[in-house]
Amino acid sequence: MNERLVSPSSVSEESRFEVTLRPRTLEEYVGQRKVVDNLRVFIEAARKRKEPLDHVLLFGPPGLGKTTLAYIIAHEMDGDLRGTSGPVIEKVGDLAAILTSVEESGVLFIDEIHRLPASIEELLYPAMEDYQIDIVIGEGPSARSVKLPIPRFTLVGSTTRAALLTSPLRSRFGIVFRLDFYTTEDLTKIVSNSAKKLGVPTDADGALEIARRSRGTPRIANRLLRRVRDFAEVDGDGTINADVARIALQKLEVDKMGFDEIDRQLMLTIMQNFAGGPVGLNTIAAAIGEDKTAIEDIYEPYLIQLGFLSRTSRGRVATEIAYEHFGIRKPGNKFSSGPQTELW
Ligand SMILES: Nc1ncnc2c1ncn2[C@@H]1O[C@H](COP(=O)(O)OP(=O)(O)OP(=O)(O)O)[C@@H](O)[C@H]1O
Ligand SMILES: [Mg+2]
Repeated sequence: MNERLVSPSSVSEESRFEVTLRPRTLEEYVGQRKVVDNLRVFIEAARKRKEPLDHVLLFGPPGLGKTTLAYIIAHEMDGDLRGTSGPVIEKVGDLAAILTSVEESGVLFIDEIHRLPASIEELLYPAMEDYQIDIVIGEGPSARSVKLPIPRFTLVGSTTRAALLTSPLRSRFGIVFRLDFYTTEDLTKIVSNSAKKLGVPTDADGALEIARRSRGTPRIANRLLRRVRDFAEVDGDGTINADVARIALQKLEVDKMGFDEIDRQLMLTIMQNFAGGPVGLNTIAAAIGEDKTAIEDIYEPYLIQLGFLSRTSRGRVATEIAYEHFGIRKPGNKFSSGPQTELW
């Protein structure tokens, strides 16, 4: 399968590197200042009171550091992390077994928590509120429900789609953080740190060049760094500077904005085939042959963040900036927007 180089989702073989590159402490975690500052206070307060940290919900696009943060929370609380994910838990008993065996003050991390089946989700309510679960013993008329105490734990839930969370579940999280795309400055720091960990000599301009094309996403920054390193080792002396990075990224077809073929196709389709929109998601999906949810969850958030695309009630609309970037004349504009901005 041809995997997308700038996909924010984790691709095969990548998890091994992610574990090596993952920051272990709040101190090492780059960016997301508001989240980090608040979390530091909540953790210190909980530790002083000798209580578990309140339950934490992390949401935001893929690759921004939700799983990383869950591990950091466990580490900073001196606790263990038990990890699972929404779609993996099939039976109430699966979750009950996990809940009864979490460590006191430890973290239970549920990835993709929006995909937890409803019947199983209900088991979480008393677990989160009162550290107990209701389990049914026996069958038929003699069946009865008993309350079972569980260790006082912290649930860290992670989701890319906060809107799909039920309100009873959402309301039981005392701490809710939304992770944002990273600034180029933060990503430059992340690339430099990762380069150090990987032992790749990289200068500041080289790191910046990679950071700029990483779509605000640390996972992509780390991936591009590894690919650029290949070019640096094969075509050069192994050092990454701005020139090496630029040439490598051009060969990898990642443009100055971090766009790849699919982003370009998506934007060009809206601008050229649908007069800039509004055009519905289904129509776009059919036109470019991509999955609807992938467009919504993976491609669009970054384009919207950049201000290239807006979501309106009538459909997607390409903005002025997008026309300028691609050097395309907007329908109805008498004059061309001028030469195309330099893509590479
Ligand atoms: N703040 C950060 N500082 C440094 N590196 C980071 C940071 N956030 C994420 N990373 C790097 O990016 C990689 C991906 O992050 P992570 O797996 O935590 O993303 P995620 O939000 O859980 O993604 P998904 O939604 O796909 O589960 C990590 O392995 C880590 O190396
Ligand atoms: Mg994750």
